[in-house]
Amino acid sequence: MYICSPFRLGKAWRRADGLGKAASRTPQSLSRPGPKTYHNHRLFSTDTMKDISITVPVVCYGYDELPDDAVRALVEKARQSTYHSYAPYSHFCVGAAILLDNGETITGANQENAAFSAGTCAERSACFYAHANYPEARFEAIAIAARAEDGDFVADPVSPCGVCRQALLEYEVLAKHPVPVWLAGRNCVYRLPSVASLLPLAFSEF
Ligand code: THU
Repeated sequence: MYICSPFRLGKAWRRADGLGKAASRTPQSLSRPGPKTYHNHRLFSTDTMKDISITVPVVCYGYDELPDDAVRALVEKARQSTYHSYAPYSHFCVGAAILLDNGETITGANQENAAFSAGTCAERSACFYAHANYPEARFEAIAIAARAEDGDFVADPVSPCGVCRQALLEYEVLAKHPVPVWLAGRNCVYRLPSVASLLPLAFSEF
């Protein structure tokens, strides 16, 4: 059910810690057993001609199995945020809720536009609002829900698009700890341990 993800603690974490590239200074709580497979650049520079397996650890919860009220409230806020979606083109309503370490929960919903590329997803509307308004606050957890405009919530959880994964990762790096992602479907909720787990081999520094 729970498998360690080899890319999860790549360069992003070490940069987030503000500790440069010294692996030995990675906080114990963020480190994981295992060799250089955690470091993306090492994978490519020295581990050539080897198979690399990347897994995404997902835990699937029934609604009555959610671990605590805070998670239940966050998931419910994501679901309610779908009603703030503006989706006249796709008719697909997505809501996101981000719990901050100051206790605030910021919500967002997809906002579409006649010029399609001007629209944005729920996750980005939430994370940009969160950091624009609470620049000192750090992300604690994220929940996402989706439903058809005139229908029920999707049976299987929707996961963030690639652009949103990249955008959210930045705030996980700032948080300096894994930010769990809760993806709410109709009958179950997936828990991913971090944004990084959704974005293997992420681009996070240059
Ligand atoms: N959408 C989101 O809000 N989040 C995602 O992660 C995937 C897609 C929105 C964008 C668009 O308004 C609609 O869903 C259909 O793609």
